[in-house]
Amino acid sequence: MIEQSVVENIIETANNSIVDIISDYVSLKKRGANYLGCCPFHNEKTGSFTVSPAKGIYKCFGCGKAGNALKFVMEHDHLTFVEAVKYLGKRVGIEVKDRELTPEMKAAQTKRESLSAVMEFAHKKFISNLWDTEEGQAVGITYFRHRGFTDHTIKEFGLGYSMQQRNALTAAALNAGFKMEFLSESGLTILGENNYQADRFWGRVMFPIHSVSGKIIAFGGRVMQTNGKVAKYVNSPEYELYHKSDVVYGIYQAKAEIQKQDRCYLVEGYTDVISMHQSGITNVIASCGTSLTQNQIKLIQRFTNNMTVLYDGDYAGIKASLRGIDMILKEGMNVKVLLLPDGEDPDSFALKHTAEDFVDYINSHQTDFIQFKAKALLKDAENDPLRKSAAVNSIVESISVVQDLVLKEYYVKECAKLMDVREDIIYSILTKKVVADAQRTANDHFTHKSRQHLASQQAEARTSLAADQNVAPNVPQSDLEAAAANIARQQQLESLDIVNPFQREEREVLRFFLKYMHCPFFFENKQSTVGAYIKECLDGDGYKSVDPVFNRIMDFYAERPDASMKNYTDSADFEMVERVIQLTNDEVTLSKMHTRFGKMESEEALLDDLIPKIVAQLRYKFVKETISRLGQDIATCTDPDTQAKLTQEYVGWLGVQKELSVTLGNRMW
Ligand code: CTP
Ligand code: MN
Repeated sequence: MIEQSVVENIIETANNSIVDIISDYVSLKKRGANYLGCCPFHNEKTGSFTVSPAKGIYKCFGCGKAGNALKFVMEHDHLTFVEAVKYLGKRVGIEVKDRELTPEMKAAQTKRESLSAVMEFAHKKFISNLWDTEEGQAVGITYFRHRGFTDHTIKEFGLGYSMQQRNALTAAALNAGFKMEFLSESGLTILGENNYQADRFWGRVMFPIHSVSGKIIAFGGRVMQTNGKVAKYVNSPEYELYHKSDVVYGIYQAKAEIQKQDRCYLVEGYTDVISMHQSGITNVIASCGTSLTQNQIKLIQRFTNNMTVLYDGDYAGIKASLRGIDMILKEGMNVKVLLLPDGEDPDSFALKHTAEDFVDYINSHQTDFIQFKAKALLKDAENDPLRKSAAVNSIVESISVVQDLVLKEYYVKECAKLMDVREDIIYSILTKKVVADAQRTANDHFTHKSRQHLASQQAEARTSLAADQNVAPNVPQSDLEAAAANIARQQQLESLDIVNPFQREEREVLRFFLKYMHCPFFFENKQSTVGAYIKECLDGDGYKSVDPVFNRIMDFYAERPDASMKNYTDSADFEMVERVIQLTNDEVTLSKMHTRFGKMESEEALLDDLIPKIVAQLRYKFVKETISRLGQDIATCTDPDTQAKLTQEYVGWLGVQKELSVTLGNRMW
């Protein structure tokens, strides 16, 4: 927990130096009062990304992303709120002190910090072993050079070397004051009986593994001579900072480019990533020899939804990894597959080709996974009906996890063609699978309450599914029921997606509210401001929007009526910040109301005239709807007392409506 006032101070200070902060990521050029650069959130060649130092905001006119300094670092580096505040605090020189940690939390935090510090120390040591010792130069550097890595690459990936001496690191760390507790827990030191202590890594070249935000959390150490007697790689064990199944190798170095290109290449190992990077292809990550877990895929999806899996050019290892692709598909990623020429892996291919040639090769040879899987499975299934059947079923398994219906149909057609099977047979296997899955989901998710809600929609879904029954004649009725329930639930969720009926009118009100809130305005015989007038009008009707952002802006005003626009955009409420920027910096699209009063010279000069009309537009629509709702309530109400009360309300609103129509009618049309 960070003190709220400190958080506010950091955000405000950071926004005040927004040009400096964004310049760490984007090269900005001064253009008038603003700065201009290429947007880091989408791919562009000419800059449409503007930063306003005066307002402390950025806005991209290409992709529409907008916000303040805090939002920028959170989005760009995918940091959490707290991480971003801490980062900015450091950047602008405001000390962040955590407050009120329980002793357990403090201990846990201190422990994580200590572990992180000892990993950092080890990393520095491995690097200096490599560059600053004779042994490192003779053995480590020689090895990396031999593999074709340049000095620049070695430094970029923080590669290092662990000395032959079995306790070099442990001794150095203890000497530097690190506790054995953390050396052992992080796996850097191995403890045995009779006070035995030794380094886990010795006589190996070292590959550090970074977290997504760039912290060193683990190492992989490779022997230089593979002789089959010692393991080629020794890796850090799992511990508090390193959960293998949550980490993707290379993501820290690749994330910006993955986001920019909206695609990542997945390879097997450390050296594949590094060689491709060196050749100039930098949107590459590695699974480290195993198939990806759900968490790893989710991590990748923070940056892109498109993946090309690169395979060595032999089919041997492929079949085992096919199941891994299903996992990636299931998470909704679009997967393509590339088979490299025989005898090549991404590492060797990258060393022999320029980035351009490599990318050309990928683009012309990558196939969708159905083609790939069919090819791989057909290899040894030809003329063997049992194997062929298994292959078809396995491909349908993959197709069944694809979410996109058009794509799904395409894959069915493709599978039919490639496997030489009738399409309706594929559909029949698919339907059976879908129904079975739907039942499983249905059982998992349904509560008693939602069952009641669904009754009516179920009937409809059941009819539509019955049509499928001729394709899957053997599916039991109960399965169809469950599938129908599942479909109905989805429909219900979709219909819950509320649309704001007053969106257009609210937008106008909000635009004028934000732009002119402090402008003088005369109403009810007293000098006031535009902001106060609008707020009072809406409060008078008890107006609350279905749009939470609208309400939060109004609440912000209520709390701080003197707040400046800068105070609004300094907020940590990014939805609010974004809305404010959209409405107050949108010089390109003039508002509809504005063009309707085409003759006007400026909005400002006519505020007294304009504001009441714009507010009346919203109020009128709201009042009309309130009246119609009350009318229905009165008609269905059975209690005479309530009915009388509702009727009184109804009449009251009719009066307001009349008043408003006078305002609108007389002055406007
Ligand atoms: N791996 C591992 N332990 C092993 C073998 C492999 O952790 N004993 C992981 C490593 O992350 C490795 C990846 O699986 O990077 C791929 O294995 P491999 O192709 O053998 O390793 P490369 O890194 O490509 O090494 P090299 O090209 O130097 O043989
Ligand atoms: Mn390799």
